[in-house]
Amino acid sequence: MASRGVIVTCLLACIATIVIGCQTSSQASGEVRYLIGMSQANLVEPWRVQMNHEIKSESQQYTEMNVLFEDAAQSSEKQVKDVEKLLAQGIDLLMISPNEVEALKPIVNRAAEKIPVIVLDRDDPGYNYSLYIGPDNYAIGQQAGQFVVSLLGKQGGNVIEIQGFSDSPPAVGRSKGFREVLSEHDNIHIVDTIIADWMRDRAEDKVKEVITRYPKVDVIFAHNDAMAQGASIAAAKLRIQGIQFVGIDGLSGANGGIQLVRMGVLTGTFNYPTGGKVAVQYAMKLLDHEKGLPRRVTLSSERITRSNFQDGSTP
Ligand code: FRU
Repeated sequence: MASRGVIVTCLLACIATIVIGCQTSSQASGEVRYLIGMSQANLVEPWRVQMNHEIKSESQQYTEMNVLFEDAAQSSEKQVKDVEKLLAQGIDLLMISPNEVEALKPIVNRAAEKIPVIVLDRDDPGYNYSLYIGPDNYAIGQQAGQFVVSLLGKQGGNVIEIQGFSDSPPAVGRSKGFREVLSEHDNIHIVDTIIADWMRDRAEDKVKEVITRYPKVDVIFAHNDAMAQGASIAAAKLRIQGIQFVGIDGLSGANGGIQLVRMGVLTGTFNYPTGGKVAVQYAMKLLDHEKGLPRRVTLSSERITRSNFQDGSTP
């Protein structure tokens, strides 16, 4: 009896070997031709989770491509190590959405000497990438400025601006565009600027700290919806009414900007496409050595207000 058990075990082991052998040989025969490394700045922010999700689902359309994901957990030091690890794993192309552009510059440029590099969202003129994909932050800032001007009307008013990391390119571009538009209106004053690291809870804490210094605040413009929501929570906790909140990102889903606009928490937001899907499509083109590819792809962004939902559609 025991020997029959041994024979069955051997048979199963042989079948398993054949099956595994088949998988390896089909890969070796060239099914997965390209290994892509995706280095994400963090996965605590829903916008970044959405970017990775887009990359994953789009890459599943291409059987010849496999994506390895790394999460830097908001640490630029870890992100450098993540990229080194991906390079050591032999990736054919690097996608990266940097935490802090300056700290990541040396490793991005080192990678770009060997393989194509696609940078998403946070750009830097010193990067030698093959392709940058992201929306125009300066234009979004201008659009946000025009929106705030229209909300305040002839009376003007007081505004607080909430930025993410003060020196990150999206924050710089958004703020520049926003301030340029507001500076044309003498009756609109930016009374305070807060840095809240792109995080909802930090925005809530900082708004609580400063808001009572001003007799009246009419609009809080935050550089993302999470911080705009944090600001609205702070105002609600302090029982301060009459402030309009404006954000950026316009994600769908629970607590996303679209839902916040729909619920009336935000007066408006501007969608900020992650570029994940487009990045995979360009990765294929780069790896296939397609000619005439751009070095920069600018994604368009639109304003979202309640008027977008008057048709009864759900976010
Ligand atoms: C996510 C995020 C987005 C924002 C973008 C700017 O990390 O904060 O909310 O639009 O980064 O880089």
